[in-house]
Amino acid sequence: MEERRVTKLIFCLLVVLYTSITCTYASNTISANQTLRYNETIFSPQETFELGFFSPGNSTNHYVGIWYKKLSKQTVVWVANRNTPLTDATGELTLTRQGVLILRSATTGNIIWSSMNSSTTSVRNPIGKLLDTGNFIIYEEGDVINQENPIWQSFDFLQHTLLPGMKLGWNLVTGSETSYTSWKSNDDPAAGEFSMSVNTEGYPQVILRDGEKIKFRAGPWNGLRFSGDADLKPNSIYNFTFVLNQREIYYQYNLINTSVYTRLVLQPSGSIERLLWVDSMQDWTLYLAPESDHCDRYAVCKAFGSCNIDNSPVCECLKGFEPISPEQWRIADWSQGCRRRIRLDCGPGEGFNKYTNVKLPDTRASWYNQTMTLGECEKVCKSNCSCTAYTNSNSSGTGSGCLLWFSDLIDIRTFAETGDTLYIRMPPSELGKSKQ
Ligand SMILES: *[C@@H]1O[C@H](CO)[C@@H](O)[C@H](O)[C@H]1NC(C)=O
Ligand SMILES: *[C@@H]1O[C@H](CO)[C@@H](O)[C@H](O)[C@H]1NC(C)=O
Ligand SMILES: *[C@@H]1O[C@H](CO)[C@@H](O)[C@H](O)[C@H]1NC(C)=O
Ligand SMILES: *[C@@H]1O[C@H](CO)[C@@H](O)[C@H](O)[C@H]1NC(C)=O
Ligand SMILES: *[C@@H]1O[C@H](CO)[C@@H](O)[C@H](O)[C@H]1NC(C)=O
Ligand SMILES: *[C@@H]1O[C@H](CO)[C@@H](O)[C@H](O)[C@H]1NC(C)=O
Ligand SMILES: *[C@@H]1O[C@H](CO)[C@@H](O)[C@H](O)[C@H]1NC(C)=O
Ligand SMILES: *[C@@H]1O[C@H](CO)[C@@H](O)[C@H](O)[C@H]1NC(C)=O
Ligand SMILES: *[C@@H]1O[C@H](CO)[C@@H](O)[C@H](O)[C@H]1NC(C)=O
Repeated sequence: MEERRVTKLIFCLLVVLYTSITCTYASNTISANQTLRYNETIFSPQETFELGFFSPGNSTNHYVGIWYKKLSKQTVVWVANRNTPLTDATGELTLTRQGVLILRSATTGNIIWSSMNSSTTSVRNPIGKLLDTGNFIIYEEGDVINQENPIWQSFDFLQHTLLPGMKLGWNLVTGSETSYTSWKSNDDPAAGEFSMSVNTEGYPQVILRDGEKIKFRAGPWNGLRFSGDADLKPNSIYNFTFVLNQREIYYQYNLINTSVYTRLVLQPSGSIERLLWVDSMQDWTLYLAPESDHCDRYAVCKAFGSCNIDNSPVCECLKGFEPISPEQWRIADWSQGCRRRIRLDCGPGEGFNKYTNVKLPDTRASWYNQTMTLGECEKVCKSNCSCTAYTNSNSSGTGSGCLLWFSDLIDIRTFAETGDTLYIRMPPSELGKSKQ
């Protein structure tokens, strides 16, 4: 290790002698027992990303982070010691022989942050490497580098930025979750009040929270996109997928052309933004924001209400439902929501009305089966008096799978086009009167 470093330094000296430009020590890797000091960084092989010490915005605190190396605007995508800043420039980042990254203050000798508590696996010759994906990965020398089973990797610790290739969701085998948390401010990478995660109480759905409160629901994956994110469409910049099986549940996107920079970031303000680097402007521009209008506020029209941004006011009760308080509803106070015009009694004549172009309601009280047909799905829903609605869990192609709701239907919106279809349980007298 020391040899490699000496070689590099000699190379640098030669470069300096021949070209009379300055040459700093730089590499893609940190070897065991090697220390990265304040003014040293490591680069990914194509110099896409850089890892080192930095101070965000106007802060005088110091952090170890990963940022885009070639961009003119400092853009940090990951921070090691986000909650425990260094107050002076004496940090030392060391990879131990056990494969653990340790950040120490040289002044006090205290450990500020470490990549893990204690290594359970037996490690022989660990190496830390920064990849061009922005992933810092610690692996056994000689092993093939992959994202599946490294000793440690920064991609397992999603913070405020989802980079191409990262996973947002769950590893059901290890029980570990990757979810977003915003920065406190542009000057402070500490965990802020906003978080975004894949909720698995019922059929998995993506939820953005402000503290404990739900702020926005991108909704369940419908086979093509998140039900509440109608703007997520196939495009020439990135492709995307949602994986749902026994081992994993996650959303991921990948670059189609790796010379483009894009990232999905949860801002300190709580807005989720897909940004794209535009070279001619030397800045990030907003490509899309899943939470974009008034109708995206969670449950704005309450139970059995539907939000339509093209209407004024935006809320109306679903067909077959009426405001609980017509007076309040008339003055755009939707706080009480809607109820059925005619109550259900679970009689044999009950059926379902079809509502098209909707955002599927909150799935926290839902059940699903990915192989059932729509017909089977209807039967199961009909035979259970507490089932309020059903639809295909996968609307791709001709549709497949079954998704059932067992609660009031909350946080529905109606899109002008490209929404999902929902079948809602109705008493005999309301059947056929559908079309929302
Ligand atoms: C690790 O590095 C320290 C300081 O550079 C040195 O004193 C120590 O001997 C090294 N340990 C091993 C096992 O190489
Ligand atoms: C980092 O480099 C700058 C410029 O070379 C120097 O002024 C500063 O003292 C260095 N800081 C540390 C902590 O080594
Ligand atoms: C840093 O401070 C300047 C001047 O007060 C301000 O204009 C700028 O927005 C601040 N930058 C950040 C990232 O907070
Ligand atoms: C470190 O280990 C302790 C005790 O095993 C545990 O309580 C703590 O949560 C762990 N910290 C991290 C960051 O894993
Ligand atoms: C996305 O594109 C990449 C690069 O072309 C490809 O390797 C990957 O399989 C694609 N993924 C999906 C889900 O289409
Ligand atoms: C990728 O993008 C770069 C820059 O926009 C462009 O020059 C290149 O042709 C693109 N490559 C492909 C395969 O589309
Ligand atoms: C899903 O439905 C299929 C077909 O009805 C059935 O064979 C399977 O056992 C169900 N799976 C679960 C997990 O209920
Ligand atoms: C109806 O579904 C609920 C929720 O899955 C379940 O708890 C209940 O046992 C079911 N009732 C019947 C009669 O199957
Ligand atoms: C959804 O349906 C499409 C088209 O039939 C199919 O290719 C895909 O595998 C399905 N997805 C799941 C999760 O079943």
